[in-house]
Amino acid sequence: EAAEKGGYPHFMIKEINEQPEAIRTTIMPRIKEGLPFLEECGITTETIKDFKNITIVACGTAMHAGMVGKYVIEDLARVSVNVDIASEFRYRNPIVGEGDLVIIISQSGETADSLAAMRLAKQKGAKTLAIVNAKGSSIAREADMLIYTLAGPEISVPSTKAYITQLSVMYLFAFELALAKETISTAECKRLVSALTKMPEAVQYVIDNCEEICKFVATKLVATDSLLYIGRGLDYALSMEGSLKLKEVSYIHSESYAAGELKHGTISLIDEDVPVIAVATQTGIIPKTISNVVEVKSRGAKVILVCTDACARELKDGVADYVIEIPHTDELLMPITAVVPLQILAYYTSINRGIDPDKPKNLAKSVTVE
Ligand code: G6P
Repeated sequence: EAAEKGGYPHFMIKEINEQPEAIRTTIMPRIKEGLPFLEECGITTETIKDFKNITIVACGTAMHAGMVGKYVIEDLARVSVNVDIASEFRYRNPIVGEGDLVIIISQSGETADSLAAMRLAKQKGAKTLAIVNAKGSSIAREADMLIYTLAGPEISVPSTKAYITQLSVMYLFAFELALAKETISTAECKRLVSALTKMPEAVQYVIDNCEEICKFVATKLVATDSLLYIGRGLDYALSMEGSLKLKEVSYIHSESYAAGELKHGTISLIDEDVPVIAVATQTGIIPKTISNVVEVKSRGAKVILVCTDACARELKDGVADYVIEIPHTDELLMPITAVVPLQILAYYTSINRGIDPDKPKNLAKSVTVE
């Protein structure tokens, strides 16, 4: 096993470090002449241009990749997207049918609820697109269209590199759909694709530059019982994954909240013992999130702020207790880099609490029974 870990103490940190390569391997064969090329996956302008509604169905981390996908697809392609938890979708007579697209995201391709949800969608006449990591898995075999994430085997129970490749595929698909719907120009699509190809490098930069600060901040979370993640828009979608990662591997209770919703109840939980991890990468709404940071700080919370370098430069002294800066890339693509410090923070918090992050108690890599 030591050899398999390639010199890393755990698969989780090994797989975090494999992310730049995983993104590269996943996207490069799907780009041709600067545009998305998904023909081999059954996706062309013709096959997708008429979809009116999209539902994304998945569980756990894969569902969180779907949340990011929703923001990106709606923003670029102007198609309405629902994201559903597979175990909910399958038991509530969902409104999908002919002319709709149901996207199933799954690392293993064997999650019982996701597979059942896909079968139900097909039965109701929807077209299905699977985004799957495990080759030849049940979900991969049964879907109408299939895009493999090429992350390679993911061993650690908490998903890291599979998630980042699921995001990468969601972006490529959103770009292709936006082209098909003619909601973006070819030139704009090329610009987005080019920005996506720079993400492996950006992720590597974040790994190289954020590990120390994340390691340090993790020492401050050892004795925490409960914490909150906040963000808006894509930052909120991303925070859901940050929160899940932390609770999976550290056993600290955490919740992700849309920052603007805090004042409708959750702020009553805030005191000096409940740290807040705020994510602020979306320029237009950064001031709004920062105003929520000020609110929780004034109620005693310790604040860890994950934000762009540009945002960090403009921060007033003392707004946050710890600032984790990441480079500004294309706005829509920020979740790809911003997830990395959240993963590393979860990893070191787990280690500091004496937990094996690769095998958290009560969790399985793949849930093939209900
Ligand atoms: C389990 C794993 C999670 C994963 C979820 C969905 O709960 O522990 O890491 O996100 O299943 O798995 P899938 O293979 O469908 O992506």
